[in-house]
Amino acid sequence: MFVSVRYQVTGATAADISASIESGIRDAALAPGDPLPPVRTLAADLAVSPATVSRAYAELRRRGLVVTAGRHGTRVRPRPPVAARRAALRPPPAPGLRDLSRGEPDQRLLPPLRRHLAALADTVGDPVGYPDLGVLPEMTEVAGARLTADGVPAPGLTLTGGALDGIERLLGAHLRHGDAVAVEDPGWTGLLDLLAALGLRPIGMPIDDDGPIVAGVAAALAAGARALIVTSRAQNPTGAAVSADRASALRTLLAGRADLLLIEDDHAAELARVPLHPLAGATTHWAFLRSVSKPFGPDLRLAVLAGDETTVARVAGRSRVGTGWVSTVLQRLVLSLWKDPEVTALVDRAAESYERRRHALIAALADRGLPAHGRTGINVWVPVDDETSALTALRDAGWAVAPGALYRIAGPPGLRITVSDLNEEELPALADAVARAARPTPSPSFTA
Ligand SMILES: Cc1ncc(COP(=O)(O)O)c(C=O)c1O
Repeated sequence: MFVSVRYQVTGATAADISASIESGIRDAALAPGDPLPPVRTLAADLAVSPATVSRAYAELRRRGLVVTAGRHGTRVRPRPPVAARRAALRPPPAPGLRDLSRGEPDQRLLPPLRRHLAALADTVGDPVGYPDLGVLPEMTEVAGARLTADGVPAPGLTLTGGALDGIERLLGAHLRHGDAVAVEDPGWTGLLDLLAALGLRPIGMPIDDDGPIVAGVAAALAAGARALIVTSRAQNPTGAAVSADRASALRTLLAGRADLLLIEDDHAAELARVPLHPLAGATTHWAFLRSVSKPFGPDLRLAVLAGDETTVARVAGRSRVGTGWVSTVLQRLVLSLWKDPEVTALVDRAAESYERRRHALIAALADRGLPAHGRTGINVWVPVDDETSALTALRDAGWAVAPGALYRIAGPPGLRITVSDLNEEELPALADAVARAARPTPSPSFTA
């Protein structure tokens, strides 16, 4: 039976037609191997030009949903799925320097895994095979409930190997080579690296302590951004967190946009001690990522991805024909950590300790007349006049910090100082050194 009889493709534009076919495949109204109507037939049915249908089919082909085989026409695929390293700019710190450049949680504050791994060893049953694997029902339930409790709707949910993996999968599913992506400026190096590797074009959005500035987001959208990536809390490198007012203004700006993929990165998750103000659901296509890397350690490589049905189906479908799933052993481990009140208490203690260190450094710098930023997370951002001279002065004083150049697109210069393992006794010396480095005493001038 021909699909045109079983499934009515709709749409007046190439984008609508491809979306309609995609949704037919998602709902199983179009089965693997099903033929799509010939281009001219569908064009006549929909009263559009054959070129419009051809464009829709080309788009589906590009994304791997359909295959065209000469005179056999176009069919649903048997298994439809759906470079520059900026970090190299940061040389390893010279031996002997106190290293505050790494941007990592304090290893000593990560919950110990031994007891949970041992319990897991006792409860994992028979080996499971390929057909049984995917997101565990309990994971869907528990992760969904945790997100809903934070105001994130979760109509669809899947897992990825961390927040960055989730971002890559989302961008791969929605964008094409050369597309523009709105990102925070300054923003996380790892993301800028990824965009470069994917051949995507970053458009910087200025930010303040409350998240991306609305006018900057509007400008990035006007400049043609196809995706917008916002860090919910513990923005890297500035520590910004999206505030209630900012979230509401951004939601108004983004309301109902169907042409933009909105991605939120809540990488700090339970480690962020400010409430979450999500944008999730403001646009037609959106995804909210919550990683376990910061509270439990980056080796766990798991993030929960919630989003609208289309977006989640694209990511889940693409992983099914690739890595397939996030190991159920890892899923069970994360579930067991989430459920343990002792772990929750340890994560709280870590969050509180980062908060104390951040505040202490910001206050010590303020005492020395130097404004610095860091509402949440493990980093403090210090605006400076000249990064190179500030870095050099700090190095000479025995400190290694990260240069703002790693994170900036067009924003003003600054330094990122990771406070995660900073000791109280180190504070006065560090604050003195930073204050001196940021505002070097002018050298005596020869001209009066
Ligand atoms: C803003 C931001 N997002 C994501 C990540 C990494 O998250 P994941 O380990 O889940 O990929 C980091 C790591 O530093 C980060 O700073």
